[in-house]
Amino acid sequence: MFEQLKSQPSDKIMELMSQYAEDTRTNKLDLGVGVYKNAVGATPIMKAVKKSEEVLHKLQDSKSYVGLIGSIEFSRNIGELVLNNSVDKKRLSYAQAPGGTGALHQLLLLARATKSVGNVWVSNPSWPNHQAILTHLGMNSSSYYYFDEITCEVNFDRMVHDLNNMKENDILLLHGCCHNPTGANLSLEQWVDLTQLIQEKNVLPFIDLAYQGFGDGLNEDVEGLNYLIKNVEEAMIAVSCSKNFGVYRDRVGVAIVVSEASKKSVVQDNLKSLNRLTFSFPPDHGAAVVNQILEDNTLKLLWKEELEEMRMNMLDLRERLSSELHRETKSDRFSFVSAHRGMFSKLGLTSEQVEFLRKDYGIYMVSDSRINVAGLRKDVINYLASAIANVI
Ligand SMILES: Cc1ncc(COP(=O)(O)O)c(C=O)c1O
Repeated sequence: MFEQLKSQPSDKIMELMSQYAEDTRTNKLDLGVGVYKNAVGATPIMKAVKKSEEVLHKLQDSKSYVGLIGSIEFSRNIGELVLNNSVDKKRLSYAQAPGGTGALHQLLLLARATKSVGNVWVSNPSWPNHQAILTHLGMNSSSYYYFDEITCEVNFDRMVHDLNNMKENDILLLHGCCHNPTGANLSLEQWVDLTQLIQEKNVLPFIDLAYQGFGDGLNEDVEGLNYLIKNVEEAMIAVSCSKNFGVYRDRVGVAIVVSEASKKSVVQDNLKSLNRLTFSFPPDHGAAVVNQILEDNTLKLLWKEELEEMRMNMLDLRERLSSELHRETKSDRFSFVSAHRGMFSKLGLTSEQVEFLRKDYGIYMVSDSRINVAGLRKDVINYLASAIANVI
């Protein structure tokens, strides 16, 4: 039977990780995989998470099932963090899911189940799993212009030009903040304009929020999203806690749906049934840890402080890399690095230049020239900047 199976395209980032692991050069640099690293290149467990796990270890007295949509208390707490009271709670439905990917998947299943979805509009470029999941689910998609490869900024005029082709009941997929892979974000004014377009076209906004707190701050990173949610009747939001709580492997995510209050119970019912059909119960441990943090003021403060430290570290690395590149290339070509936000920046290098960096310098980045800024350390910034100056 299995001879009918076709091999699947390998994941570029996983491939890069194994090439990096085999590289014996001591000055090699991994800017590929999207995990936060601290000043010594480690991805430690956040202190608030460790403490929360200790509390949980003492208090938890059962590992019995929680419920098909997971912990409603956890989902509500995440909903508050993300939505900042921008919408009446009577209009919100939730389902806990395995990571942001699980939330995206369940929400697309929900949209597909309505049998009325047209095209799902995805930014070009986007996190590759967006398109991969859409294809896997047999859903139609279109791409919209987003990133200008020359200026390395959002080209909003061209984006709107493409989105003017959206039809009623299409879905517009947006990154909530810290766009992956580009690092180029929409301004609040642009979110306002998009909200108007969404209303005019009567399309469903779908926001993927995987990096809240990594860009300009916990509240600042959702200002655009909050404005949008305040002004639309329906929306879907896929939240990941993988990065901002550093619980990557525990698979913590929430699918949130905004609907008319009268539709809440049918939406909630469908989310529950889709979880049942996909994996039954979502994993509990990571969500319980995150919930404990959000419920306990001391732990919450500790988490916020640590998250802020991570954010400031990424901003500092951006400033340093931008000024080293300015010095090495004697140009402003890379000044966008300090304006980008989040973990990633797309540098606008060709795939040949990326290949040179790997072969000649042991510098690993995704072939589209996305770097994980958090994968840098202060002591290697000059090495990276001079290598880039040599290959361009
Ligand atoms: C844009 C985007 N969305 C969603 C995710 C999903 O994250 P996870 O499933 O690990 O929570 C990621 C992770 O890299 C991402 O970059």
